[in-house]
Amino acid sequence: MRTVDEQTLIEDFSAQYEHLQNPVAREIERNVCGCDYGGTSWTTRAEADWICDLLQLNSDRRLLEVGAGCGWPGLYMARKTGCELMLVDLPLEGLRIAARRVIDDGLEGRCRLVVADAVALPFGNQEFDAISHSDVLCCLDKKLNALQDCHRVMRAGGIMVFTVISIAPGLPTKDHNHAIEFGPPYVDSASDYSAMLSRSGWAIGDAVDLTAEYASTSNRYLRQLESHRSELKDLLGGEEFRAQLTRMRSKVAAIDQGLFRRELYLTKRTHPD
Ligand SMILES: C[S@@+](CC[C@H](N)C(=O)[O-])C[C@H]1O[C@@H](n2cnc3c(N)ncnc32)[C@H](O)[C@@H]1O
Repeated sequence: MRTVDEQTLIEDFSAQYEHLQNPVAREIERNVCGCDYGGTSWTTRAEADWICDLLQLNSDRRLLEVGAGCGWPGLYMARKTGCELMLVDLPLEGLRIAARRVIDDGLEGRCRLVVADAVALPFGNQEFDAISHSDVLCCLDKKLNALQDCHRVMRAGGIMVFTVISIAPGLPTKDHNHAIEFGPPYVDSASDYSAMLSRSGWAIGDAVDLTAEYASTSNRYLRQLESHRSELKDLLGGEEFRAQLTRMRSKVAAIDQGLFRRELYLTKRTHPD
């Protein structure tokens, strides 16, 4: 049984995944991120290329993408590197769209999709060589449990790369609360990611600060919303468009003010059990 919060999150993402298939939304995504999968993370195509390299993907590797949405960036990485791919997420709507893309891109036989919770992955121990997730831990409550379950299903020596948005440390309470209001659904975290990674058995290879890129990508997105104003009004209705634009302006202002951090973690499972 899902909590009310989880159910709301699934419904919100489902609605976004449906909307993002519209040609206007796809054009915006191409202009902002260089891809058109219907992504909701801030991962650009250049970042996805970099993650492929960090994960050392090739046709012998089995990749798990957690919180896969419509398949961005997992399907792109599978197409580019020839790796095997398992996509996992909670909203069925996103995975349905991803399943169509699997067929369109000729990836049948190499890609599978499962509706599952990141904290209870329906796989055996040490089944994967690589794991990726893009801005997913900031969208779920049980971050440590998700990192622990990723560790369980990863083989020894396997690499996990993920991006995550967090609240900048040391903010006054008012700014911290403002960040909670305009950040991803579970942006606040009692513990930092380095500590949670260590507690769940991961060795950190690198932690790269991508906040400046996050600011420029989100500003680009805001400019695209403004320049596609009339098409988006037709699509969403004037009231909904204005609400989304106002929220995005506040969010971008908060990012520019330095209330958030976006980081990429490169981690490894070093122990066999
Ligand atoms: C920011 S979106 C990223 C989606 C996609 N990877 C992309 O880049 O567009 C975060 C995703 O995390 C998923 N998510 C949130 N909680 C989850 C959970 N407990 N288990 C699995 N996925 C979850 C959401 O459903 C959503 O699709």
